[in-house]
Amino acid sequence: MASENMQTLHVELGDRRYPIFIGSDLNPQTLLEPYIKGKQVMIVTNTTIEKLYLQHYVDAVSALGKTVATCVLDDGEKYKDIEHLNLIFDALLEAGFNRDCTVLALGGGVIGDMAGFASACFQRGVYFIQVPTTLLSQVDSSVGGKTGINHPLGKNMIGAFKQPQVVLADMSQLKTLPPRELSAGLAEVIKYALLGDADFLVWLEQNMDGLIAGDATLLAEAVYRSCAHKARIVANDEKEQGERALLNLGHTFGHAIESYLGYGVWLHGEAVATGMVMAADLSCRMGWISDEDLQRTKKIIQRANLPVACPAIPLDEFLAYMSHDKKVLNGQLRLILMKKMGQAVITKDFDVEFMKQAILANQLSA
Ligand code: NAD
Ligand code: GLY
Repeated sequence: MASENMQTLHVELGDRRYPIFIGSDLNPQTLLEPYIKGKQVMIVTNTTIEKLYLQHYVDAVSALGKTVATCVLDDGEKYKDIEHLNLIFDALLEAGFNRDCTVLALGGGVIGDMAGFASACFQRGVYFIQVPTTLLSQVDSSVGGKTGINHPLGKNMIGAFKQPQVVLADMSQLKTLPPRELSAGLAEVIKYALLGDADFLVWLEQNMDGLIAGDATLLAEAVYRSCAHKARIVANDEKEQGERALLNLGHTFGHAIESYLGYGVWLHGEAVATGMVMAADLSCRMGWISDEDLQRTKKIIQRANLPVACPAIPLDEFLAYMSHDKKVLNGQLRLILMKKMGQAVITKDFDVEFMKQAILANQLSA
């Protein structure tokens, strides 16, 4: 039985259309059954989630008469690399899995990105299911099909588009999430409000205390509203030829912070949070948003217990990391900036000196 309060959204991609189920205490056996095509299922997870939720999913999928194997990876962004990706291929080959197997990602964005990339590559593509267990992965990484791994020279530089068959976002699993991780997920939630939904920003301002406290009803609403935005944008622009780039508000700055500090030192969501402050600051310097809007942006980020300034990073190194960004076209950096609150644009028409000032203004002094 599906939980009574479950909500369903769809990512409308023609014959690759898929549902996102959002609720508490969801029943994976019932909900996943229609979406597991073959007889073999590889559940990819990490050492932390293994202890919390793996058996529940092994039991649910086994009860469907499937052959279930598991691949348990080390936990952490620093393991989102080619060596650990290869462990998934090892597990698939050792289990003797074939082309109609399903790879099920049980975990946060790191596991989802790696398992998804493995499913895109193994035997040139097998089925894929996302069971995101962090707020960040529920509102962002499990939806839309971006998968991949990091390279020492740049984050998420190697990957593929691979849409899942289904996404199962269970709020009850967020109860075990450390508060710092919940906040990191809220960074991506705030992102949707800043880039395209001023009403959602007001709702977040009204409900931030409850979200931070882990209120499951509020979290479900935040996941639903975030996923609705993402699903619409992905349906319009799956391969990021245009509008989808808006989802990277704060990410070019954030990726530079993450890469400079070393993967895993700052959480992805924390880096995105400070990156959004830098983007808002530059938008303010460009005269597009007011200083009041900039302060409002910082305030909602601070209320989510997220950082609004990063450690001191030499400007030349910061800029070098930014130049590896996937939004660099013909050697020209494009940024997602705010034309007004709740309306972002992708643009190459910004003042580079203002950009440098925005970076330096939002660093802690050395
Ligand atoms: P994560 O996957 O590292 O998970 C965070 C931590 O929480 C880990 O230690 C994990 O073991 C633990 N955890 C997960 N679920 C838990 C639970 N229910 N209870 C207790 N602990 C739990 O980090 P994340 O923030 O989920 O994802 C970040 C990654 O996602 C980054 O690599 C980022 O690049 C990627 N990302 C991808 C996309 C995309 O579109 N593909 C979008 C945004 C972010
Ligand atoms: N997280 C950005 C995207 O999926 O496009």
